[in-house]
Amino acid sequence: MEKMVILGGAKLAGTVHISGAKNSAVAILVAAMMVNGKCHIENVPHVSDIEVLLEIINNMGGKACFTDKSVVEMDCSGLNSCAATYETVAKIRASSYLMGALLGRFGHAQVALPGGCDFGIRPIDLHLKGFSALGATWNVEHGMVELSADHLAGNNVYLDQVSVGATINIMLAASLSEGLTVIDNAAKEPHIVDVANFLNCMGANIKGAGTDVIKINGVKELHGGSFSVIPDQIEAGTFMIAAAATGGDVMIADIIPEHMEALSAKLEEIGVNVDRYDEAIRVWVSCEKLKSTNVKTLPHPGFPTDLQPQMLTLLTLSGGTSIVTENVWDNRFKYVGELNRMGANVSVDGKVATVEGCPYLTGAPVSATDLRAGAALVIAGLVAHGVTEIYNLKYIDRGYEDFEQKLRNLGAQITRRSAETVEESAAHSIG
Ligand code: EPZ
Repeated sequence: MEKMVILGGAKLAGTVHISGAKNSAVAILVAAMMVNGKCHIENVPHVSDIEVLLEIINNMGGKACFTDKSVVEMDCSGLNSCAATYETVAKIRASSYLMGALLGRFGHAQVALPGGCDFGIRPIDLHLKGFSALGATWNVEHGMVELSADHLAGNNVYLDQVSVGATINIMLAASLSEGLTVIDNAAKEPHIVDVANFLNCMGANIKGAGTDVIKINGVKELHGGSFSVIPDQIEAGTFMIAAAATGGDVMIADIIPEHMEALSAKLEEIGVNVDRYDEAIRVWVSCEKLKSTNVKTLPHPGFPTDLQPQMLTLLTLSGGTSIVTENVWDNRFKYVGELNRMGANVSVDGKVATVEGCPYLTGAPVSATDLRAGAALVIAGLVAHGVTEIYNLKYIDRGYEDFEQKLRNLGAQITRRSAETVEESAAHSIG
Protein backbone atom coordinates (compact mmCIF):
# COMPACT_ATOMS: atom_id res chain seq x y z
CA MET A 1 0.00 0.00 0.00
CA GLU A 2 1.20 3.48 -0.82
CA LYS A 3 0.63 6.88 0.72
CA MET A 4 0.97 10.40 -0.58
CA VAL A 5 3.01 12.72 1.58
CA ILE A 6 2.45 16.45 1.22
CA LEU A 7 4.26 19.30 2.94
CA GLY A 8 1.72 22.13 2.80
CA GLY A 9 2.34 25.80 2.22
CA ALA A 10 3.59 26.16 -1.37
CA LYS A 11 1.63 28.55 -3.57
CA LEU A 12 1.04 26.77 -6.87
CA ALA A 13 2.45 28.62 -9.87
CA GLY A 14 3.05 27.85 -13.54
CA THR A 15 1.14 26.00 -16.25
CA VAL A 16 -0.62 22.65 -16.03
CA HIS A 17 -1.73 20.69 -19.10
CA ILE A 18 -5.05 18.91 -18.63
CA SER A 19 -5.50 15.30 -19.82
CA GLY A 20 -8.41 13.78 -21.72
CA ALA A 21 -11.69 13.36 -19.86
CA LYS A 22 -11.83 10.08 -17.93
CA ASN A 23 -15.62 9.94 -17.85
CA SER A 24 -15.80 10.55 -21.59
CA ALA A 25 -13.03 8.08 -22.46
CA VAL A 26 -14.59 5.19 -20.51
CA ALA A 27 -17.86 5.61 -22.43
CA ILE A 28 -16.10 6.04 -25.78
CA LEU A 29 -14.00 2.89 -25.34
CA VAL A 30 -17.17 0.91 -24.64
CA ALA A 31 -18.91 2.58 -27.60
CA ALA A 32 -15.97 1.47 -29.76
CA MET A 33 -16.90 -2.13 -28.89
CA MET A 34 -19.91 -1.65 -31.18
CA VAL A 35 -17.69 -0.73 -34.11
CA ASN A 36 -16.82 -3.21 -36.83
CA GLY A 37 -13.36 -1.92 -37.66
CA LYS A 38 -10.37 -0.07 -36.27
CA CYS A 39 -10.70 2.93 -33.96
CA HIS A 40 -7.83 5.30 -33.28
CA ILE A 41 -8.68 7.23 -30.12
CA GLU A 42 -6.47 10.09 -28.95
CA ASN A 43 -6.27 12.03 -25.68
CA VAL A 44 -7.18 9.01 -23.55
CA PRO A 45 -5.95 9.52 -19.97
CA HIS A 46 -3.68 6.79 -18.64
CA VAL A 47 -5.55 6.08 -15.39
CA SER A 48 -6.53 2.83 -13.70
CA ASP A 49 -10.21 2.93 -14.78
CA ILE A 50 -9.02 2.90 -18.40
CA GLU A 51 -6.55 0.07 -17.73
CA VAL A 52 -9.36 -2.03 -16.25
CA LEU A 53 -11.61 -1.32 -19.22
CA LEU A 54 -8.92 -2.30 -21.73
CA GLU A 55 -8.52 -5.59 -19.87
CA ILE A 56 -12.30 -6.23 -20.02
CA ILE A 57 -12.36 -5.52 -23.77
CA ASN A 58 -9.39 -7.82 -24.46
CA ASN A 59 -10.92 -10.59 -22.31
CA MET A 60 -14.06 -10.41 -24.43
CA GLY A 61 -12.21 -11.00 -27.68
CA GLY A 62 -11.63 -7.39 -28.70
CA LYS A 63 -8.21 -5.84 -29.26
CA ALA A 64 -7.44 -2.64 -27.38
CA CYS A 65 -4.21 -1.13 -26.10
CA PHE A 66 -2.28 2.08 -25.62
CA THR A 67 0.13 2.54 -28.53
CA ASP A 68 1.36 5.88 -27.27
CA LYS A 69 1.02 7.77 -23.97
CA SER A 70 -2.54 8.87 -24.70
CA VAL A 71 -3.48 6.93 -27.86
CA VAL A 72 -5.62 3.80 -27.78
CA GLU A 73 -5.98 1.61 -30.87
CA MET A 74 -8.99 -0.68 -30.85
CA ASP A 75 -10.41 -3.32 -33.11
CA CYS A 76 -13.49 -5.11 -31.89
CA SER A 77 -14.40 -6.86 -35.16
CA GLY A 78 -13.56 -10.12 -33.38
CA LEU A 79 -15.51 -9.41 -30.17
CA ASN A 80 -16.91 -12.81 -29.25
CA SER A 81 -18.60 -12.45 -25.90
CA CYS A 82 -21.65 -10.62 -24.69
CA ALA A 83 -21.09 -11.53 -21.05
CA ALA A 84 -19.24 -9.51 -18.44
CA THR A 85 -18.80 -11.15 -15.06
CA TYR A 86 -18.79 -9.62 -11.58
CA GLU A 87 -15.00 -10.02 -11.19
CA THR A 88 -14.45 -7.68 -14.10
CA VAL A 89 -17.26 -5.14 -13.82
CA ALA A 90 -17.12 -4.69 -10.03
CA LYS A 91 -13.88 -2.75 -10.43
CA ILE A 92 -15.35 0.01 -12.56
CA ARG A 93 -18.77 1.60 -12.50
CA ALA A 94 -18.64 2.67 -16.15
CA SER A 95 -18.83 -1.00 -17.13
CA SER A 96 -22.62 -0.51 -16.95
CA TYR A 97 -22.21 0.93 -20.47
CA LEU A 98 -21.51 -2.64 -21.58
CA MET A 99 -25.27 -3.22 -21.31
CA GLY A 100 -26.11 -0.71 -24.05
CA ALA A 101 -23.13 -1.54 -26.27
CA LEU A 102 -23.57 -5.33 -26.20
CA LEU A 103 -27.35 -5.11 -26.54
CA GLY A 104 -26.92 -2.84 -29.56
CA ARG A 105 -24.29 -5.01 -31.18
CA PHE A 106 -25.49 -8.55 -30.37
CA GLY A 107 -29.12 -8.08 -29.30
CA HIS A 108 -28.06 -9.76 -26.11
CA ALA A 109 -26.07 -8.79 -23.03
CA GLN A 110 -25.26 -10.43 -19.72
CA VAL A 111 -23.64 -7.96 -17.40
CA ALA A 112 -23.10 -8.24 -13.66
CA LEU A 113 -25.04 -5.57 -11.81
CA PRO A 114 -22.85 -2.64 -10.95
CA GLY A 115 -22.78 -2.33 -7.18
CA GLY A 116 -23.25 0.69 -4.95
CA CYS A 117 -20.38 3.03 -4.31
CA ASP A 118 -18.92 5.19 -1.65
CA PHE A 119 -21.49 7.93 -2.01
CA GLY A 120 -24.79 6.10 -2.20
CA ILE A 121 -26.94 3.60 -4.01
CA ARG A 122 -26.47 3.70 -7.78
CA PRO A 123 -29.69 2.42 -9.39
CA ILE A 124 -30.03 1.46 -13.06
CA ASP A 125 -33.84 1.64 -13.36
CA LEU A 126 -33.65 4.43 -15.96
CA HIS A 127 -31.17 2.46 -18.08
CA LEU A 128 -33.54 -0.52 -18.03
CA LYS A 129 -36.56 1.70 -18.78
CA GLY A 130 -34.74 2.88 -21.91
CA PHE A 131 -33.80 -0.63 -23.05
CA SER A 132 -37.41 -1.79 -22.53
CA ALA A 133 -38.66 1.09 -24.67
CA LEU A 134 -36.37 -0.13 -27.47
CA GLY A 135 -37.98 -3.57 -27.26
CA ALA A 136 -35.54 -5.43 -25.03
CA THR A 137 -36.61 -7.69 -22.21
CA TRP A 138 -34.52 -7.94 -19.10
CA ASN A 139 -34.17 -10.15 -16.13
CA VAL A 140 -32.08 -9.80 -13.00
CA GLU A 141 -30.88 -13.08 -11.53
CA HIS A 142 -27.84 -14.13 -9.52
CA GLY A 143 -26.52 -10.58 -9.58
CA MET A 144 -26.52 -10.42 -13.39
CA VAL A 145 -28.74 -8.36 -15.70
CA GLU A 146 -29.63 -10.30 -18.80
CA LEU A 147 -30.96 -8.27 -21.70
CA SER A 148 -32.37 -9.67 -24.95
CA ALA A 149 -34.06 -8.34 -28.02
CA ASP A 150 -34.97 -10.10 -31.27
CA HIS A 151 -35.28 -6.71 -32.82
CA LEU A 152 -34.38 -3.31 -31.35
CA ALA A 153 -36.69 -0.57 -32.59
CA GLY A 154 -36.56 3.17 -31.92
CA ASN A 155 -39.02 4.73 -29.46
CA ASN A 156 -39.55 7.74 -27.19
CA VAL A 157 -37.89 7.60 -23.78
CA TYR A 158 -38.57 10.15 -21.07
CA LEU A 159 -36.00 10.10 -18.28
CA ASP A 160 -37.76 10.82 -14.97
CA GLN A 161 -34.45 12.08 -13.61
CA VAL A 162 -31.49 13.46 -15.52
CA SER A 163 -28.96 10.63 -15.70
CA VAL A 164 -25.60 10.69 -17.47
CA GLY A 165 -25.31 6.91 -17.49
CA ALA A 166 -28.84 6.23 -18.73
CA THR A 167 -28.53 8.86 -21.47
CA ILE A 168 -25.28 7.33 -22.75
CA ASN A 169 -26.53 3.75 -22.48
CA ILE A 170 -29.70 4.51 -24.44
CA MET A 171 -27.69 6.40 -27.09
CA LEU A 172 -25.46 3.34 -27.49
CA ALA A 173 -28.24 0.79 -27.94
CA ALA A 174 -30.39 3.14 -30.05
CA SER A 175 -27.51 3.82 -32.47
CA LEU A 176 -27.83 0.25 -33.79
CA SER A 177 -31.65 0.02 -33.48
CA GLU A 178 -34.09 0.41 -36.34
CA GLY A 179 -35.80 3.79 -36.63
CA LEU A 180 -35.92 6.92 -34.48
CA THR A 181 -35.30 7.08 -30.72
CA VAL A 182 -35.99 10.33 -28.86
CA ILE A 183 -34.53 10.78 -25.37
CA ASP A 184 -36.37 13.49 -23.48
CA ASN A 185 -34.91 15.11 -20.33
CA ALA A 186 -31.49 13.85 -21.43
CA ALA A 187 -28.29 14.71 -19.54
CA LYS A 188 -26.28 17.56 -21.12
CA GLU A 189 -22.79 17.00 -19.67
CA PRO A 190 -19.89 17.72 -22.05
CA HIS A 191 -19.09 14.01 -22.23
CA ILE A 192 -22.61 13.23 -23.50
CA VAL A 193 -21.79 15.45 -26.49
CA ASP A 194 -18.38 13.81 -26.83
CA VAL A 195 -19.83 10.28 -26.93
CA ALA A 196 -22.43 11.39 -29.50
CA ASN A 197 -19.68 12.99 -31.61
CA PHE A 198 -17.63 9.80 -31.42
CA LEU A 199 -20.58 7.64 -32.51
CA ASN A 200 -21.39 10.07 -35.34
CA CYS A 201 -17.76 9.89 -36.55
CA MET A 202 -18.19 6.11 -36.73
CA GLY A 203 -21.38 6.39 -38.82
CA ALA A 204 -24.17 6.89 -36.25
CA ASN A 205 -26.85 9.52 -36.69
CA ILE A 206 -27.36 11.42 -33.43
CA LYS A 207 -28.68 14.97 -33.17
CA GLY A 208 -29.32 17.27 -30.22
CA ALA A 209 -26.65 15.98 -27.80
CA GLY A 210 -26.00 18.79 -25.31
CA THR A 211 -29.70 19.72 -25.20
CA ASP A 212 -32.63 18.17 -23.29
CA VAL A 213 -33.78 16.23 -26.34
CA ILE A 214 -31.52 13.80 -28.20
CA LYS A 215 -32.69 12.18 -31.43
CA ILE A 216 -31.01 9.01 -32.64
CA ASN A 217 -31.74 7.53 -36.03
CA GLY A 218 -30.52 3.95 -35.91
CA VAL A 219 -28.00 2.70 -38.49
CA LYS A 220 -27.13 -0.88 -39.53
CA GLU A 221 -23.43 -0.77 -38.70
CA LEU A 222 -20.71 1.47 -37.28
CA HIS A 223 -17.37 1.77 -39.10
CA GLY A 224 -13.88 2.53 -37.82
CA GLY A 225 -12.26 5.96 -37.64
CA SER A 226 -10.27 8.44 -35.57
CA PHE A 227 -11.37 10.57 -32.66
CA SER A 228 -9.90 12.74 -29.90
CA VAL A 229 -11.43 12.82 -26.42
CA ILE A 230 -12.33 16.23 -24.90
CA PRO A 231 -10.27 17.67 -22.03
CA ASP A 232 -11.20 16.60 -18.51
CA GLN A 233 -13.49 19.21 -17.03
CA ILE A 234 -13.18 17.76 -13.52
CA GLU A 235 -9.37 17.52 -13.58
CA ALA A 236 -9.28 21.14 -14.83
CA GLY A 237 -11.64 22.20 -12.04
CA THR A 238 -9.57 20.38 -9.44
CA PHE A 239 -6.44 22.34 -10.51
CA MET A 240 -8.41 25.63 -10.61
CA ILE A 241 -9.53 25.07 -7.02
CA ALA A 242 -6.03 23.97 -5.93
CA ALA A 243 -4.60 27.18 -7.42
CA ALA A 244 -7.20 29.27 -5.57
CA ALA A 245 -6.77 27.40 -2.27
CA THR A 246 -2.99 27.88 -2.21
CA GLY A 247 -3.26 31.59 -3.16
CA GLY A 248 -1.35 30.73 -6.32
CA ASP A 249 -1.24 31.76 -9.97
CA VAL A 250 -1.80 28.89 -12.40
CA MET A 251 -2.56 28.69 -16.12
CA ILE A 252 -4.82 25.67 -16.69
CA ALA A 253 -4.10 24.78 -20.31
CA ASP A 254 -5.61 22.55 -23.03
CA ILE A 255 -9.18 22.92 -21.79
CA ILE A 256 -12.54 24.16 -23.05
CA PRO A 257 -13.18 27.23 -20.83
CA GLU A 258 -16.96 27.15 -21.53
CA HIS A 259 -17.15 23.78 -19.75
CA MET A 260 -15.78 25.44 -16.62
CA GLU A 261 -18.28 28.30 -16.35
CA ALA A 262 -20.23 27.08 -13.28
CA LEU A 263 -16.95 26.82 -11.34
CA SER A 264 -15.35 29.97 -12.80
CA ALA A 265 -18.38 32.05 -11.76
CA LYS A 266 -18.32 30.63 -8.20
CA LEU A 267 -14.58 31.29 -7.87
CA GLU A 268 -15.06 34.90 -9.00
CA GLU A 269 -17.92 35.27 -6.51
CA ILE A 270 -15.58 34.46 -3.61
CA GLY A 271 -12.81 36.79 -4.81
CA VAL A 272 -10.60 34.61 -7.03
CA ASN A 273 -9.38 36.12 -10.33
CA VAL A 274 -10.33 33.98 -13.34
CA ASP A 275 -9.03 35.02 -16.79
CA ARG A 276 -10.52 33.11 -19.70
CA TYR A 277 -8.52 32.44 -22.89
CA ASP A 278 -9.37 30.37 -26.00
CA GLU A 279 -8.09 27.08 -24.62
CA ALA A 280 -6.92 28.00 -21.14
CA ILE A 281 -7.94 29.68 -17.90
CA ARG A 282 -5.63 31.56 -15.54
CA VAL A 283 -6.59 31.37 -11.87
CA TRP A 284 -4.86 33.73 -9.47
CA VAL A 285 -5.48 35.24 -6.08
CA SER A 286 -4.77 38.81 -5.08
CA CYS A 287 -6.83 39.16 -1.87
CA GLU A 288 -5.91 38.14 1.69
CA LYS A 289 -9.04 36.14 2.47
CA LEU A 290 -11.63 34.58 0.16
CA LYS A 291 -15.33 35.18 0.80
CA SER A 292 -17.83 32.49 1.72
CA THR A 293 -20.66 31.45 -0.61
CA ASN A 294 -23.37 28.86 -1.14
CA VAL A 295 -23.02 26.02 -3.66
CA LYS A 296 -25.70 23.64 -4.95
CA THR A 297 -24.66 20.74 -7.16
CA LEU A 298 -26.86 20.11 -10.19
CA PRO A 299 -26.65 18.32 -13.54
CA HIS A 300 -24.79 20.27 -16.26
CA PRO A 301 -24.74 23.25 -16.75
CA GLY A 302 -25.11 23.49 -12.96
CA PHE A 303 -22.24 23.14 -10.50
CA PRO A 304 -20.81 19.60 -10.99
CA THR A 305 -21.14 17.16 -8.10
CA ASP A 306 -17.69 15.84 -9.06
CA LEU A 307 -16.18 19.19 -7.93
CA GLN A 308 -18.21 19.42 -4.71
CA PRO A 309 -15.59 17.94 -2.33
CA GLN A 310 -12.80 20.12 -3.80
CA MET A 311 -14.95 23.29 -3.62
CA LEU A 312 -16.08 22.56 -0.07
CA THR A 313 -12.43 22.17 0.92
CA LEU A 314 -11.64 25.60 -0.54
CA LEU A 315 -14.56 27.12 1.39
CA THR A 316 -13.18 25.83 4.71
CA LEU A 317 -10.56 28.58 4.34
CA SER A 318 -12.97 31.41 3.49
CA GLY A 319 -13.97 34.19 5.87
CA GLY A 320 -17.53 33.22 6.81
CA THR A 321 -20.18 30.54 6.63
CA SER A 322 -20.90 28.63 3.40
CA ILE A 323 -23.72 26.20 2.69
CA VAL A 324 -23.00 23.33 0.27
CA THR A 325 -26.01 21.35 -0.95
CA GLU A 326 -25.47 18.02 -2.74
CA ASN A 327 -28.43 17.47 -5.05
CA VAL A 328 -27.12 14.59 -7.16
CA TRP A 329 -25.88 11.89 -4.76
CA ASP A 330 -27.34 10.76 -1.43
CA ASN A 331 -24.17 10.41 0.57
CA ARG A 332 -21.30 12.41 -0.87
CA PHE A 333 -19.99 14.02 2.32
CA LYS A 334 -18.19 11.01 3.78
CA TYR A 335 -14.82 12.74 3.45
CA VAL A 336 -15.90 15.60 5.73
CA GLY A 337 -14.82 13.67 8.84
CA GLU A 338 -11.28 13.52 7.41
CA LEU A 339 -11.29 17.27 6.65
CA ASN A 340 -12.46 18.04 10.18
CA ARG A 341 -9.53 16.00 11.49
CA MET A 342 -7.35 18.55 9.66
CA GLY A 343 -9.00 21.40 11.56
CA ALA A 344 -11.94 22.22 9.27
CA ASN A 345 -15.27 23.08 10.84
CA VAL A 346 -17.94 21.41 8.73
CA SER A 347 -21.22 19.90 9.89
CA VAL A 348 -23.44 17.74 7.72
CA ASP A 349 -27.17 17.26 7.87
CA GLY A 350 -28.33 14.92 5.11
CA LYS A 351 -27.55 16.54 1.78
CA VAL A 352 -26.51 19.89 3.30
CA ALA A 353 -23.09 20.77 4.67
CA THR A 354 -22.47 23.92 6.69
CA VAL A 355 -18.89 25.13 6.37
CA GLU A 356 -17.57 27.59 8.96
CA GLY A 357 -14.43 29.25 7.61
CA CYS A 358 -11.35 28.55 9.75
CA PRO A 359 -7.98 30.34 9.88
CA TYR A 360 -5.92 27.36 8.71
CA LEU A 361 -5.86 23.57 8.33
CA THR A 362 -3.22 21.34 9.89
CA GLY A 363 -1.62 18.28 8.29
CA ALA A 364 -2.77 14.83 9.45
CA PRO A 365 -2.90 11.24 8.23
CA VAL A 366 -6.17 10.92 6.27
CA SER A 367 -7.84 8.40 3.94
CA ALA A 368 -9.52 9.01 0.59
CA THR A 369 -13.12 7.78 0.62
CA ASP A 370 -13.65 8.07 -3.15
CA LEU A 371 -12.00 9.60 -6.23
CA ARG A 372 -13.03 13.25 -5.84
CA ALA A 373 -12.84 13.11 -2.04
CA GLY A 374 -9.22 11.99 -2.53
CA ALA A 375 -8.55 15.03 -4.72
CA ALA A 376 -10.14 17.26 -2.08
CA LEU A 377 -7.82 15.85 0.60
CA VAL A 378 -4.82 16.54 -1.66
CA ILE A 379 -5.96 20.18 -1.90
CA ALA A 380 -6.36 20.27 1.89
CA GLY A 381 -2.84 18.86 2.26
CA LEU A 382 -1.42 21.51 -0.09
CA VAL A 383 -2.70 24.34 2.10
CA ALA A 384 -2.36 22.73 5.53
CA HIS A 385 0.36 23.64 8.02
CA GLY A 386 2.81 20.74 8.25
CA VAL A 387 2.68 17.26 6.73
CA THR A 388 -0.39 15.42 5.45
CA GLU A 389 -0.32 11.71 4.60
CA ILE A 390 -3.06 10.44 2.31
CA TYR A 391 -3.98 6.74 2.17
CA ASN A 392 -6.25 4.73 -0.14
CA LEU A 393 -4.62 6.15 -3.25
CA LYS A 394 -6.36 3.57 -5.45
CA TYR A 395 -9.31 5.96 -5.61
CA ILE A 396 -7.20 8.90 -6.79
CA ASP A 397 -5.40 6.69 -9.32
CA ARG A 398 -8.75 5.80 -10.92
CA GLY A 399 -9.15 9.24 -12.41
CA TYR A 400 -6.15 11.60 -12.22
CA GLU A 401 -3.29 11.12 -14.68
CA ASP A 402 0.18 12.02 -13.33
CA PHE A 403 -1.44 13.89 -10.46
CA GLU A 404 1.61 14.28 -8.22
CA GLN A 405 3.96 15.09 -11.11
CA LYS A 406 1.62 17.81 -12.39
CA LEU A 407 1.40 19.28 -8.87
CA ARG A 408 5.18 19.06 -8.39
CA ASN A 409 5.66 20.96 -11.66
CA LEU A 410 3.58 23.75 -10.09
CA GLY A 411 5.82 23.82 -7.00
CA ALA A 412 3.93 21.49 -4.66
CA GLN A 413 5.96 19.42 -2.21
CA ILE A 414 4.34 16.05 -2.75
CA THR A 415 5.71 12.53 -2.99
CA ARG A 416 4.41 8.95 -2.99
CA ARG A 417 5.89 6.38 -0.63
CA SER A 418 5.20 2.89 0.58
CA ALA A 419 3.22 2.81 3.78
CA GLU A 420 5.95 1.73 6.18
CA THR A 421 4.28 -1.01 8.19
CA VAL A 422 1.44 -3.46 7.81
CA GLU A 423 -0.22 -1.83 10.85
CA GLU A 424 0.04 1.57 9.21
CA SER A 425 -1.61 0.25 6.03
CA ALA A 426 -4.37 -1.53 7.94
CA ALA A 427 -5.13 1.50 10.08
CA HIS A 428 -5.93 3.58 7.03
CA SER A 429 -7.63 1.10 4.80
CA ILE A 430 -11.30 1.90 4.29
CA GLY A 431 -13.79 -0.57 2.85
C1 EPZ B 1 -21.75 9.91 -13.89
O1 EPZ B 1 -22.22 8.83 -13.08
C2 EPZ B 1 -20.29 10.09 -13.58
N1 EPZ B 1 -19.58 8.87 -13.89
C3 EPZ B 1 -20.11 10.47 -12.09
O2 EPZ B 1 -18.74 10.77 -11.90
C4 EPZ B 1 -20.93 11.72 -11.80
O3 EPZ B 1 -20.88 12.00 -10.41
C5 EPZ B 1 -22.39 11.53 -12.23
O4 EPZ B 1 -22.46 11.11 -13.62
C6 EPZ B 1 -23.22 12.80 -12.10
O5 EPZ B 1 -22.65 13.84 -12.85
C7 EPZ B 1 -19.22 8.62 -15.14
O6 EPZ B 1 -19.45 9.39 -16.04
C8 EPZ B 1 -18.49 7.35 -15.38
P1 EPZ B 1 -26.10 9.52 -13.13
P2 EPZ B 1 -23.63 8.14 -13.39
O7 EPZ B 1 -26.74 8.36 -13.78
O8 EPZ B 1 -23.85 8.12 -14.85
C9 EPZ B 1 -29.86 8.70 -10.18
C10 EPZ B 1 -16.63 10.66 -10.84
O9 EPZ B 1 -16.24 11.01 -9.72
N2 EPZ B 1 -30.18 7.56 -11.09
O10 EPZ B 1 -26.12 10.84 -13.82
O11 EPZ B 1 -23.66 6.86 -12.65
C11 EPZ B 1 -28.61 8.42 -9.37
O12 EPZ B 1 -28.90 7.68 -8.20
C12 EPZ B 1 -17.95 9.94 -11.02
O13 EPZ B 1 -15.96 10.82 -11.87
C13 EPZ B 1 -31.37 6.89 -10.91
O14 EPZ B 1 -32.17 7.20 -10.03
O15 EPZ B 1 -24.61 9.18 -12.69
C14 EPZ B 1 -28.12 9.84 -9.08
O16 EPZ B 1 -28.79 10.33 -7.96
C15 EPZ B 1 -18.59 9.61 -9.73
N3 EPZ B 1 -31.64 5.83 -11.77
C16 EPZ B 1 -28.54 10.63 -10.32
O17 EPZ B 1 -29.53 9.82 -10.97
C17 EPZ B 1 -30.80 5.45 -12.76
O18 EPZ B 1 -31.12 4.50 -13.48
C18 EPZ B 1 -27.44 10.93 -11.33
O19 EPZ B 1 -26.78 9.71 -11.69
C19 EPZ B 1 -29.59 6.16 -12.93
C20 EPZ B 1 -29.30 7.21 -12.07
